[in-house]
Amino acid sequence: MTEVEQIDANGHLRHLLSLEGLERKTLESILEQAHRYLTPIGQRPKRDTVLSGCTVVNLFFEPSTRTRASFELAAKRLDADVLSLDVNMSSRAKGESVIDTIYTLEAMQADIFVVRDASTGVPASIAKHVAPHISVLNAGESEVSHPTQGLLDLMTIQIRKGDPSKLVVAIVGDIRHSRVARSAYEALMHFDVGELRLVAPSELLPDDSLFPGAVRETELEKGLAGADVVMGLRLQKERFAQMADIPDPQEYFRRYGLTEDRLKAAREDAIVMHPGPMNRGVEIDSATADGKRSVIRQQVTCGTAIRMAVLTAVAEHIRNK
Ligand code: CP
Repeated sequence: MTEVEQIDANGHLRHLLSLEGLERKTLESILEQAHRYLTPIGQRPKRDTVLSGCTVVNLFFEPSTRTRASFELAAKRLDADVLSLDVNMSSRAKGESVIDTIYTLEAMQADIFVVRDASTGVPASIAKHVAPHISVLNAGESEVSHPTQGLLDLMTIQIRKGDPSKLVVAIVGDIRHSRVARSAYEALMHFDVGELRLVAPSELLPDDSLFPGAVRETELEKGLAGADVVMGLRLQKERFAQMADIPDPQEYFRRYGLTEDRLKAAREDAIVMHPGPMNRGVEIDSATADGKRSVIRQQVTCGTAIRMAVLTAVAEHIRNK
């Protein structure tokens, strides 16, 4: 759990670093707001002015398409000034520390930092150093936390399948290296998920101390049996300690790839999720990714609504400082 207090003295969300340690009512409030912002594809997106005069800075020290683009769109739809720093062209490349970069941007009146980093603890470290009015939002931290992804996954499950307490959710793939799995687990546990299964070869299952209460399974067919929700995960090649440990993609697909045939073990009305980016033909085939069970694009749509809702929540903190 993070050492930094995520809720301010007035009870408002100040930082979003991890879903662990937050109360269920905080998540419910974000989800309710996200539903108000959700707009069907093809309609003009909803807008708000809660961040008028505020500055949101995206600092992505790891690649991203979905999270970065949706935070940027979310902030613009809330009327913020938005800066997405090109970190490869920033003075970090000349050796400037992250904290000096933060102090520099703080001096330009940044109010919210959206941070992705490959190292554990960076968002919390930034949160410890910023001025009292500033909020820090974790946009993906090493293999430990991706809270807005956990919220958008929960929102998608609730929309498509209803109450998580009545559902069997199977997370399949490289769980050991997955911040998405960790945050999905935390979100679903807040909502008393019926059963959460972790399905992977033993070397890709997490340490025994993690994911308490989840069921572990190394056989895909057993892991999928009767599941309502199947969440595929990418092999996170960049997080393996040694290249030699990365499974052979063809062999991995043969044993753990999600296909329509394999999904016959799940419930007939099961949905298939994937956080993206996908490696088609490794953890999922195209027929499944683009098939009728897939809610992968709905996850993306929920992502923008969730990020608008999180930004709206921390706007309360900024306004009251
Ligand atoms: N799901 C997710 O975090 O995707 P990006 O890496 O594209 O942001």
